[in-house]
Amino acid sequence: MLTPPITTYPEFETERFRMRQPRLEDAELLAAIYDHPEVARYLLPGASGVQRMREKLTRDLEGSIRGEGFRWLLCARGEDVPLGSVALFNWSSRDRRAEVGYVLGMPLWGQGVMKELMPALLHFGFARMGLHRIEAHLDPRNTASMRVLTRAGFQHEAVLRENCAGPEGFTDTAVVSLLEGEWKGPK
Ligand SMILES: CC(C)(COP(=O)(O)OP(=O)(O)OC[C@H]1O[C@@H](n2cnc3c(N)ncnc32)[C@H](O)[C@@H]1OP(=O)(O)O)[C@@H](O)C(=O)NCCC(=O)NCCS
Repeated sequence: MLTPPITTYPEFETERFRMRQPRLEDAELLAAIYDHPEVARYLLPGASGVQRMREKLTRDLEGSIRGEGFRWLLCARGEDVPLGSVALFNWSSRDRRAEVGYVLGMPLWGQGVMKELMPALLHFGFARMGLHRIEAHLDPRNTASMRVLTRAGFQHEAVLRENCAGPEGFTDTAVVSLLEGEWKGPK
């Protein structure tokens, strides 16, 4: 079981992909993925650009050592080019809880990539981080993401009404979660 402080960055693979530790030099390619208007549509509003991404990766890397969670860069197996990122963040080792997040570059959409990645992410969370609860906060209009989560067994819990201020005004946030007892994956 992983316990903070994390000294070796954990990585894992699936049939087609590897989840690797981010590096600051990835910021440019990752910003290009995140800043695409279709990709950014339902993501939390915030500054765009390479500098912002470098700051985000720095925060994530420093936070991972302190046991605040992990962000991985998604690459094709045997390759190193970032195609997107997945994360288990806001980790509370006391409450055995974390949030799941994922952003894929558009070329990967609609090919069942999250269908392949989600079981591995959940296994990492429940089996390696020892989580009891994994949750997700998402824009309820993000039907693709909601489908990814409900398909994996996440249960709908709440809608936080107009709790997020963005370029379109205030938007809602849906909260869904999966508990270790509900997880159907290999223990
Ligand atoms: C959300 C996202 C991760 C989906 O990844 P993906 O690999 O395309 O997902 P999958 O192909 O595994 O499954 C998507 C499911 O949603 C469905 N779907 C996709 N687009 C849809 C849409 N616009 N409306 C309804 N359903 C949709 C697909 O049919 C599929 O359903 P299925 O299980 O019945 O086949 C990807 O679109 C993405 O990275 N978006 C931008 C970032 C983002 O919004 N991240 C989530 C933040 S909470």
